[in-house]
Amino acid sequence: MSITIESYPFAPYRELSNAELCSRIQSAKQQLGSSLLILGHHYQQDEVIEHADLKGDSYQLSKLAAESSDCRTIVFCGVHFMAETADILANRPDRIAIRGGERVRVVLPDMAAGCSMADMAAIRQVEAAWDQLGDVIDTNDLTPVTYINSAASLKAFCGKHGGIVCTSSNAKAVLEWAFKQRKRVFFFPDQHLGRNTSLKMGITNEFMPVWNPHEEMGGNSRDAIDSSKVILWKGHCSVHQMFQADHVHSFRKRIDGIKILVHPECPQEVNDIADISGSTSKIIETVKQSPPGSKWAIGTELHLVDRLKKEHPEQEIHFLSPLVCMCATMYRIDLAHLCWSLENIVVGTIVNEIKVKEETARWSVVALERMLSVK
Ligand code: 13P
Ligand code: SF4
Repeated sequence: MSITIESYPFAPYRELSNAELCSRIQSAKQQLGSSLLILGHHYQQDEVIEHADLKGDSYQLSKLAAESSDCRTIVFCGVHFMAETADILANRPDRIAIRGGERVRVVLPDMAAGCSMADMAAIRQVEAAWDQLGDVIDTNDLTPVTYINSAASLKAFCGKHGGIVCTSSNAKAVLEWAFKQRKRVFFFPDQHLGRNTSLKMGITNEFMPVWNPHEEMGGNSRDAIDSSKVILWKGHCSVHQMFQADHVHSFRKRIDGIKILVHPECPQEVNDIADISGSTSKIIETVKQSPPGSKWAIGTELHLVDRLKKEHPEQEIHFLSPLVCMCATMYRIDLAHLCWSLENIVVGTIVNEIKVKEETARWSVVALERMLSVK
């Protein structure tokens, strides 16, 4: 992170009205032209996502960063691991060479925009788990797969150990790839995405022990590890784990013809009985393609569901949980932080820069490129 004394301090931006912030954001965007690319994840609040040049799910956003050519600065309206991934992919050595040695600077408007799931697996814990697993099974038979919602160090670990990154939109194809390489998978940090995807591939829970990083051998017997096909890290998304099977039953009882549409970060009990499960883009596409009068109860982050409700008044859309399930860290990105970071770029100051260490980036690219080449 580099904040210089010439930069505008953040505090005064809190006092500005949304109208003022919007007009200043527009003006900064105009001044920066094609040297700036604002990427926005679907969970961002409406007032922020409106300013994104391109929106997408985690997979699409990583592809957009990988393909970016004109821009010199990416402002990422999303969370920390997404900005790290953008930095790694936009600054691959061949890309830097094409730009005559120039790096793309990646900015996360608020450094507090992290991901609680990503924080559930630290590299030291993953390395310790790998060593312990090596006492029971041959780790040459084990492909490490990290969900993109993880720190760059975990992606680098996968790169070094013949592994790969996945997103919610390509998890099945990635697991198929992983099983072509070796006979077992170590999947982190989201147990639910790992389990829901593996179940669809015919692997049963009996062969999917859960690895608790706080217990010896992850809390498993040697036999359970020895007979495993997929070892699941004990991590979860705090937003999606709020959705429950009872919410599904209650909607089906109350509303005739309702369909349940969920994200695969939801627990198995919900995923198993949903009509459709898929990434944020799949959720959006499913609603877009449906005829007027369709009825949905959707289990994913609140801002996306509310946006779908507004954009599709011809359909009946409900939020699956009676409770508020929103991603508090995605919500950290607001107009004030966006405006502050853009106006600093205009005067040549990069605030909140995300720059992955060279060695980590070098190995992360290996795992990310494997993912990008999986069809
Ligand atoms: P996708 O956009 O890849 O579906 O991911 C959802 C998510 O939780 C991002 O953090
Ligand atoms: Fe992380 Fe869940 Fe928020 Fe996605 S929705 S960024 S997985 S905490």
